[in-house]
Amino acid sequence: MAVNGPRPIIIGNWKMNGTSESLGEIRLMTGMLDGVELGCDVVVCPPATLIRQVHEMLSESKIGTGGQDCHPEPNGAFTGDISAEMLRDAGARYVILGHSERRHYHDESDALVRRKAEAAHRAGLVAIICVGETELERGAGDTLDVVSRQLAGSVPKGSGAENTIIAYEPVWAIGSGVTPTSDEIGEVHRAVRHWLAERLGDEAARAMRILYGGSVKSTNAADIFAIPDVDGSLVGQASLKAKDFLGIIGQFAPC
Ligand code: PGA
Repeated sequence: MAVNGPRPIIIGNWKMNGTSESLGEIRLMTGMLDGVELGCDVVVCPPATLIRQVHEMLSESKIGTGGQDCHPEPNGAFTGDISAEMLRDAGARYVILGHSERRHYHDESDALVRRKAEAAHRAGLVAIICVGETELERGAGDTLDVVSRQLAGSVPKGSGAENTIIAYEPVWAIGSGVTPTSDEIGEVHRAVRHWLAERLGDEAARAMRILYGGSVKSTNAADIFAIPDVDGSLVGQASLKAKDFLGIIGQFAPC
């Protein structure tokens, strides 16, 4: 984490997990955090079906709620899709965009991710824009090229620290239990910060949060958060159980 850097943020991505039974984890979380001063911002992104309930359960806490995707248009004949405005109406203040699972399973291009990020901004949501290389791309030495190409295609004009978060998630580290070395993470985060400085200016780049995601758990979180330019994490599997998630959040002492 950068000294004097932005306030860290931990974002839980439940993916396609969770029914009303899982709300018990939110109850557990609010119970355990009652009266606790957090050292970071915290957001939970449940499936869309639970956003309103999670938002209502978290309304007394400082924990935010987010969606996992949105359509670029505000409304219309797009069966099965959800707009940024609808997420906002349900209580979300954040939305994950361009996650590698969306890019892979739904063929999402950088251009589409950028339109979705514009929609998020239009609706007053913070866009969490994900980038990251595959194992093949890393093996070919293309990591920094891939990440800067994704940033150039996906981050819209008008992005700033107040409406955008970047999540670096190497595809091969997601759900695999394998994480890059600290040097590898540090190299990409430094490059992302540099890219942001060139496009958005030094001030916006310094203030924007750059998260690492991919197999983060309570046992490796402290090492990852100690890497310069890592301002928190996007957490998948370890965000599903309150105890695991709090083990990660607890790495940041209140400041
Ligand atoms: P993981 O997922 O923590 O389960 O590896 C991270 C993500 O996909 O955001």
